[in-house]
Amino acid sequence: MPIQILPARLANQIAAGEVVERPASVVKELVENSIDAGATRIEIDIDKGGSKRIRIRDNGCGIPKDELELALSRHATSKISTLDDLEAIASLGFRGEALASISSVSRLTMTSRPEGQDEAWSAYAEGREMAVTVKPAAHPVGTTIEVLDLFFNTPARRKFLRTDKTEFTHIDELLKRVALSRFDVAITLRHNGAVVRQYRPASTQVQKERRLAAVCGSAFVNHAVEVSLEHGDLKLSGWITTPEGARAQNDIQHCFVNGRMMKDKLINHAIRQAYENALRADQFAAYVLYIEVNPHEVDVNVHPAKHEVRFHQARLVHDFISQAITDA
Ligand SMILES: Nc1ncnc2c1ncn2[C@@H]1O[C@H](COP(=O)(O)OP(=O)(O)OP(=O)(O)O)[C@@H](O)[C@H]1O
Ligand SMILES: [Mg+2]
Repeated sequence: MPIQILPARLANQIAAGEVVERPASVVKELVENSIDAGATRIEIDIDKGGSKRIRIRDNGCGIPKDELELALSRHATSKISTLDDLEAIASLGFRGEALASISSVSRLTMTSRPEGQDEAWSAYAEGREMAVTVKPAAHPVGTTIEVLDLFFNTPARRKFLRTDKTEFTHIDELLKRVALSRFDVAITLRHNGAVVRQYRPASTQVQKERRLAAVCGSAFVNHAVEVSLEHGDLKLSGWITTPEGARAQNDIQHCFVNGRMMKDKLINHAIRQAYENALRADQFAAYVLYIEVNPHEVDVNVHPAKHEVRFHQARLVHDFISQAITDA
């Protein structure tokens, strides 16, 4: 076969392979977009575990009509324009790939209206080259993305979908982490039309503890110790539990770096080390921790789904976390 440039849809489907693993990955990307758009209210509607329908509606800044086509194109983003921006990133997204990837493996419609534009417009991409069609629509300021029939054209991926209940549980767990990452954002989750979660915006301490209890359970809150520590550019805050609050599984281990949810080995190791002598081998620490670090000190571009980061001063960060928790 001679070398050839892949058709747009196929290239996007290949990119989707890294990022779009299951319905919960779609929800993650779309909710992160809503947060980046400054939304204070996000509604998530799921049908049949997300394989039938995922709809995310936000009250964020919206997208002007003449940018809708770009929003669905690969390598198009409003979040960075130079390498310097990437090295000091403040947004959750930066790859400019999520919408193109998701829309290549589903039937995606994006409807949006920015402030100052009288009408809303709807866009969807079709065909091999993913040509974008734009139509007039009705929508308040903000954006709605509807994703129907996820993986309808990628049977290999569809085969890996679990039951609706399992897929929905993944979405629910993901949104718990989102709820912990942004207490100021109202989040509603419905499954097959019924409200399953409603996280109200929390600004006071009481409201925050209420949301914390809603996500982690009241047992966690009862054993929780609030931590807050700063060292130079590094800040650690959140809640850890006394050894009495330890759990039989690792289900309450939430960690955020600059507002981004993490599954980071370095951080997990630092925390485990701090609890080493206090817990038995079959016990797991429970924690919700926020690490703030100068964005120049961390590389976020190391994992396609952004589950990991690389700290420039890894050792320092590790020891800071470990020491802070031991002290607390
Ligand atoms: N809910 C939304 N509200 C406003 N603008 C949005 C929304 N979702 C997407 N956009 C716009 O569409 C662009 C493309 O979104 P997409 O998620 O594909 O890429 P990204 O967020 O820039 O990067 P990444 O691939 O890392 O998520 C964004 O840069 C943003 O300008
Ligand atoms: Mg994005």
